[in-house]
Amino acid sequence: MALDIVIMAAGKGTRMKSRLPKVLHRLAGKPLLQHVMDMTGDLGRARTIVITGHGAEQVEQAIAGSGAIAVRQEPQLGTGHAVQQAVPQLTGTPDDRAGITLILNGDVPLIEATTARALVEACAGRQLALLTIELEDPSGYGRILRSGDAHGGRVLGIVEHKDASPAQRQIREIYTGMMAAPTALLKRWVMALTNQNAQGEYYLTDIVAMAVEQGVPVVATHARSETEVLGVNSPAQLAELERRLQRRQAEALMEAGVRLADPDRFDLRGELLPGQDVEIDVGCIFEGQVVVGDNVRIGAHCVIRDAEIAAGAVIHPFTHIEGAKVGTGALIGPYARLRPGAELGDEVHIGNFVEVKNSTLARGAKANHLAYLGDSTVGERVNYGAGSITANYDGANKHRTVIGNDVHVGSNCVLIAPVTIGEGGTIGGGSTISRDTPAHQLTVARARQVSLAGWQRPKKAPK
Ligand code: UD1
Ligand code: CA
Repeated sequence: MALDIVIMAAGKGTRMKSRLPKVLHRLAGKPLLQHVMDMTGDLGRARTIVITGHGAEQVEQAIAGSGAIAVRQEPQLGTGHAVQQAVPQLTGTPDDRAGITLILNGDVPLIEATTARALVEACAGRQLALLTIELEDPSGYGRILRSGDAHGGRVLGIVEHKDASPAQRQIREIYTGMMAAPTALLKRWVMALTNQNAQGEYYLTDIVAMAVEQGVPVVATHARSETEVLGVNSPAQLAELERRLQRRQAEALMEAGVRLADPDRFDLRGELLPGQDVEIDVGCIFEGQVVVGDNVRIGAHCVIRDAEIAAGAVIHPFTHIEGAKVGTGALIGPYARLRPGAELGDEVHIGNFVEVKNSTLARGAKANHLAYLGDSTVGERVNYGAGSITANYDGANKHRTVIGNDVHVGSNCVLIAPVTIGEGGTIGGGSTISRDTPAHQLTVARARQVSLAGWQRPKKAPK
């Protein structure tokens, strides 16, 4: 049966007080709307229609290339009006009997595929299925009206909070904003909506009473958790959902054996693929895709993005890694910075305040203190001294530095690229190297030391 998915994303999001459209605010590093769209990917083949309005251009740009169809709603006259705009895009003619439309919200990001699927199954192409939940504090939400006094009675309609009587406001079962409807019926119902209500809006929720009147069965599917139906309307709610999602991700990782020092001080904004016996201390942030091998230990407050860290490596606290590979048993940090294109071999040591960019370091190379390696190829067992840098940029072009196996670069050297340091050579501390150096020799390139015997230190005149 054809499945169409309508994601409503035209609302203003006034309470965000932001120039960015609400559905583009990020949760765990990903726009709210993208969370919903990614979830729909698990529902099988479907057409996705996104209703845009406020910040339409930005939202449309964000979904370009996803295969979703953007439909503008201008002005925004309510949720029923939003779905009216999608009608021409929905599969089939109004007389077709097949087809289901699932309605989701771009600002309810944590809806789970299991629940969405249950909603579609409950609809089965012939019933109106509403996603509902009971809340301690239902204020603000549309209430589910049922026959009889308790739930279990048939669903008769939804009354919006603003239109509800004091008695109706006591009802704790609310409409979450998500439903699945037979497409053909939905098309007819939304075209018949009026805006005679407290807010002068076209309420999508009024189709429930229409269904009941026409003898179409209405069923309520319960959400599995409150988290999956929570919407984002304010920065505080965004932060609240962020913590819930982070907690969920942390629990999944711990379930997989990762030892998090504190699941409440852990942030994953992407994907973390852990090996066995991985330990992560507090305050770390993982972004993009991070692959971590067996027995890796990551110290406190590291920021790691798009990286591969091989087995047994230890990342000490306050280290930043982005777009880099770290070899088996390497020791990195504290306070190290690995930038894109840093590829460190096995047993490499990178110490405090060392920056490595677009460079490969072969097995056992060490740069333990206060150094910069950019655009360089560093051989095995090289020891790169404190305060040494590659001068890789001439103001217009980047040049490479090649350091052979077993080279020792003393402290405070400047290697002016392009330059090659021959295998086994030693560079005396304080050297400025602008030409290639021979293998296995000591090269010193600095002013010779002199001592002046008769020199007198200037003295202050007596007062
Ligand atoms: C709606 C429901 C209410 C439910 C609540 C759940 C209606 C009439 N009411 O209330 O029963 O309990 O959601 O959160 O449907 N939108 C548009 N165009 C519009 C108006 C809204 O695209 O003209 C979008 C918003 O961007 C949002 C969604 O629809 O994603 C819901 O809009 P919102 O204003 O939050 O709905 P409520 O009136 O709060
Ligand atoms: Ca709302």
